[in-house]
Amino acid sequence: MSKALEGVRILDFTHVQSGPTCTQLLAWFGADVIKVERPGAGDATRQQLQDIPDVDSLYFTMLNHNKRSITIDTKNPKGKEVLWRLVKECDVLVENFAPGALDRMGFSWEKLQEANPKLIVASVKGFGPGRYQDCKVYENVAQCAGGSASTTGFRDDIPMVTGAQIGDSGTGLHLALGIVTALYHRTHSGVGQRVDCAMQDSVLNLCRVKLRDQQRLAHGPLREYSQFGEDIPFGDAVPRAGNDSGGGQPGRILKCKGWEHDPNAYIYFITQAAVWEPICDIIGEPGWKTDPLYSSPKTRLPHLNEIFTRIEAWTMKHDKFEAMDILNKYDIPCGPILSMKEIAEDDSLRATGTVVEVDHPTRGKYLTVGNPIKLSASPAEVTRSPLLGEHTEEILREVLGYRDNEIAEIEGSGAVGRVTKLAAE
Ligand SMILES: CC(C)(COP(=O)(O)OP(=O)(O)OC[C@H]1O[C@@H](n2cnc3c(N)ncnc32)[C@H](O)[C@@H]1OP(=O)(O)O)[C@@H](O)C(=O)NCCC(=O)NCCS
Repeated sequence: MSKALEGVRILDFTHVQSGPTCTQLLAWFGADVIKVERPGAGDATRQQLQDIPDVDSLYFTMLNHNKRSITIDTKNPKGKEVLWRLVKECDVLVENFAPGALDRMGFSWEKLQEANPKLIVASVKGFGPGRYQDCKVYENVAQCAGGSASTTGFRDDIPMVTGAQIGDSGTGLHLALGIVTALYHRTHSGVGQRVDCAMQDSVLNLCRVKLRDQQRLAHGPLREYSQFGEDIPFGDAVPRAGNDSGGGQPGRILKCKGWEHDPNAYIYFITQAAVWEPICDIIGEPGWKTDPLYSSPKTRLPHLNEIFTRIEAWTMKHDKFEAMDILNKYDIPCGPILSMKEIAEDDSLRATGTVVEVDHPTRGKYLTVGNPIKLSASPAEVTRSPLLGEHTEEILREVLGYRDNEIAEIEGSGAVGRVTKLAAE
């Protein structure tokens, strides 16, 4: 079976998380991703959060699978010469440097386009044009500026960031879609274009329902938020709603058996209207099926706290997996709160390749998240991340056609650091 992006070559100038998430996906789909790193140091994450001394961190390895690594000093004249050759050989350049850094290196959009009119140039920045356009940005800054933090957490507490990396990985996903769309456009236009994703915009896109609620506020209280049933007035901005779903089908996180000692003995329970009757039977409140205060979705809204307290009295008698088994028989939408330990040990996630074990020459075996997007004709095989500069010689020789004496000259100039001769398998 062929890979969907076979034949596409990516010049990968990305680092940390947002950009590498994007290029890792493209690599899983079969693109040849050539990661350019600073000689001697590489992507800063190789050394961050290191659990084993002098071994590429999990932070790095888990975001850079299926790529090749070449070390080039982008500020060295010979290094620039090599990079311009790469620009001509690649279909896409992806970068997430701080604003202005690519221009300062001498690789402006105008010059890139002149060198290779078919090149797609894809960038992640923290903010789009506007008052914060020059700011450097990390994950949580984007969560805060994109509307996530102000709408996450409990009403009476401070804004919260979430563990899901919606700013970094979320923007990387958006960028990957932009790139394949631009590649498709190129097939009939013949020209490249710029693809820009701002982290603030990507977070806001993922918080779309909260901007929906912001506008609904103008027409009255948000009845799906438990604050409504508690008679607490709404202000002029969408409040934090704890674990309320806040959507058309009220839901909440409820305690299960063992919650006193297990921090994850909880279940998310959704009171979907279609299964209200079995819910009433299961929790021992058959009268709620016909009582007008509880029988319709609308009349239930002011009583959400009472209803979920009653449901929780039932869920607390069962562990989260037992509760799942019982509720699923009646098609009641619910989900266990799974710890990372439980996820790492989950057989079905292993079977589908969503959790994969990878072997690494200096680290040994480790777990990673494989490609969550499954293409039937182009399965993704996860291969380990490259060592720093592991493919420098291979790329100079095979992609760029340099001869031995030219490679020696490049190496002598200090542009690529020390060339690694063979992959350390
Ligand atoms: C993530 C971020 C805050 C990191 O900042 P940083 O560590 O200071 O890194 P920068 O991107 O500013 O790059 C630092 C310098 O390294 C240089 N550099 C990078 N790769 C190089 C290489 N191979 N050779 C020589 N120099 C290199 C850059 O040119 C830049 O130099 P300059 O400041 O003189 O122009 C910043 O890159 C950023 O805001 N990126 C956009 C938003 C983003 O993606 N954030 C999420 C990250 S997960």
